[in-house]
Amino acid sequence: MKEAVSISGLNVLYHRGHTAFAAVREASFAIRTGETFGLFGPSGCGKSTILKALAGIERHWSGAIEVFGSPYRSGHGLTAAQRRDVQMVFQDPYASLHPRHRIRRILAEPLVVNGIDNPSGRAAEALMSVGLPPDVASRTPNALSGGQRQRVAIARALLLRPRLLLLDEPTSALDLSVQAEILNLLNDIKAAYGMTFLLVSHDRDVIAHMCDRTAEMSEGRIVDIRQRADDRPPLVPT
Ligand SMILES: Nc1ncnc2c1ncn2[C@@H]1O[C@H](COP(=O)(O)OP(=O)(O)OP(=O)(O)O)[C@@H](O)[C@H]1O
Ligand SMILES: [Mg+2]
Repeated sequence: MKEAVSISGLNVLYHRGHTAFAAVREASFAIRTGETFGLFGPSGCGKSTILKALAGIERHWSGAIEVFGSPYRSGHGLTAAQRRDVQMVFQDPYASLHPRHRIRRILAEPLVVNGIDNPSGRAAEALMSVGLPPDVASRTPNALSGGQRQRVAIARALLLRPRLLLLDEPTSALDLSVQAEILNLLNDIKAAYGMTFLLVSHDRDVIAHMCDRTAEMSEGRIVDIRQRADDRPPLVPT
């Protein structure tokens, strides 16, 4: 099967004052198409930095990145096709949505920018696919709960029908019961659309419940890659 993601010898340097510091060091791994691949490790170990490089947000890296066989160019943005294929859901649902824009506008914007027909119809469909009622469209993010907001962020990421979804702690800001709902929703969506997931979490239970394989990071390095055990544990004991 073709690889969805191939990263080899990835380094990302940041500057702290006059000294350079490597947030990601010689990271190499591949994600198979259709897989849910986890990135696990303590705060500051470089998880989000890898996702940002894959999302084209962090452009200053060295090494090699390929997504669905298409190479990234260090120092450049993604191509239009790469941007459609790869979408990211951010750690913080409060920060990732414009607080004063109505949900209708938040969802329609990426469609309009990409010249896609019937943006309002597609936006309504996206809300339905994440289990939100149509009246949410006329509300603003600050009139929604944290769980509803994260559903909107997921709906927005799905609008362009990406093949790879980058999920950066998509549920860490949410209550345990809402967290389980969103994770189950993500699994349903993945099955329905046939996507590949890269999921970041520092929660072992979330990783164990969701991921086929998981890379463990420490201080910028990938220190272990593991296949999940066969009996996937439920997230919330029933
Ligand atoms: N733009 C930046 N400039 C300088 N340093 C940065 C920048 N972004 C991240 N860092 C540093 O790089 C390291 C890795 O950060 P990163 O956000 O990837 O960690 P993380 O594993 O996602 O942590 P968390 O679990 O807290 O989200 C950290 O030490 C962080 O302080
Ligand atoms: Mg992070």
